[in-house]
Amino acid sequence: MNMPSKRAQEIPPFIVMDVLEKAHELERQGRHIIHLEIGEPDFPTPKCICDAAREAADKGETHYTHSLGILELRESISLHYRKNYGVHIDPGQIVVTSGTSPGLFMIFSALLEVGDEIIISDPHYPCYPNFANFLDANPVFVRVYEEDGFQLRPEEIKKKIGPRTKAIIINSPSNPTGNLLSRERMEKIAELGLTVISDEIYHGLVYGEKEHSILEFTDNAFVLNGFSKLYAMTGWRLGYLISPPRFVRPIQKVQQNFFISAGSISQWAGLAALTKAGADVERMKKIYDERRRYMIQRLRDLGFGLPVEPAGAFYMLVNAKHLGRNSYELAFEILEKANVGVSPGIDFGQNAEGYLRFSYANSLENIKEGLNRLEDFLLAI
Ligand SMILES: Cc1ncc(COP(=O)(O)O)c(C=O)c1O
Repeated sequence: MNMPSKRAQEIPPFIVMDVLEKAHELERQGRHIIHLEIGEPDFPTPKCICDAAREAADKGETHYTHSLGILELRESISLHYRKNYGVHIDPGQIVVTSGTSPGLFMIFSALLEVGDEIIISDPHYPCYPNFANFLDANPVFVRVYEEDGFQLRPEEIKKKIGPRTKAIIINSPSNPTGNLLSRERMEKIAELGLTVISDEIYHGLVYGEKEHSILEFTDNAFVLNGFSKLYAMTGWRLGYLISPPRFVRPIQKVQQNFFISAGSISQWAGLAALTKAGADVERMKKIYDERRRYMIQRLRDLGFGLPVEPAGAFYMLVNAKHLGRNSYELAFEILEKANVGVSPGIDFGQNAEGYLRFSYANSLENIKEGLNRLEDFLLAI
């Protein structure tokens, strides 16, 4: 009898999905759960985007597209980067993908040989090391600290660079910490001379200081971005990558073999997102910010450690070490006893053990109720 491959057996699950699945099981039993573990916008996709998708379907835009993506969308992405960051990108450097996740996989597969190393912050988005391991490359972790707002320290990155280091991956605003990497640190990271893979999927969701693209500081970089978060389009599976010219053809061949092209209707919807959804984004952003400020205050009042205010995305990673439990058990205990879903820090790396991630991609009303329940739980333990 055939067995699943070692590669497939060894790829770790998303622990947050375990929490979510348990939450759904409790909901089926009639319990009312408040979801603060989820990493996707609670808003529906803006109407102008859905309308554009309907029009595309009606017009018969239902076929495979060019493997790099429709030119109109790639031109619009190029304009978006020029307007927002003042950088010039040829549309020929852009590959439209079925979400940021396939984009990340394609970059890793075009860049990493077996045994190569890639530097990743700890904590980090769980897929980063999983993808590297899947390709028989080695993640090398560099610690980030809560007192620094979990920002990478360029001098600590330097210590991790070795003969097999191929790249560093950065993610600002970050999942799970919600923090922004400062302009100065981005500049210093670019100066290290490493190839930088910059996951910019949370760009646009910043609530104060402006975010920067790595392309403002170096051309030796890949950018990953997508429509899931900013435009509330997780289910449309649409993203893109920006690549140095010499990697475009290899990545295009991976795309052709694995994915053929991103979905045609989603691509036309993405074009409407970039060109028509500005007011919708502003509306959602204002609401996220209101929730963010409430959540920061409330979690601090409840005794969780959060020395630096998270300024982007829709997450915060708070220190719960004073409760003396491991984060996995704590998250499940909060779910079982308080009916609130939260993500255990351990999902995001060893250095996030003892922390919990809260998402404010839920209504203010639900956030208030969830944190009231958490307060009662904390009083009872
Ligand atoms: C940092 C980060 N990168 C990439 C992704 C994947 O996004 P997509 O829906 O575009 O595949 C996520 C989703 O949560 C994320 O948090």
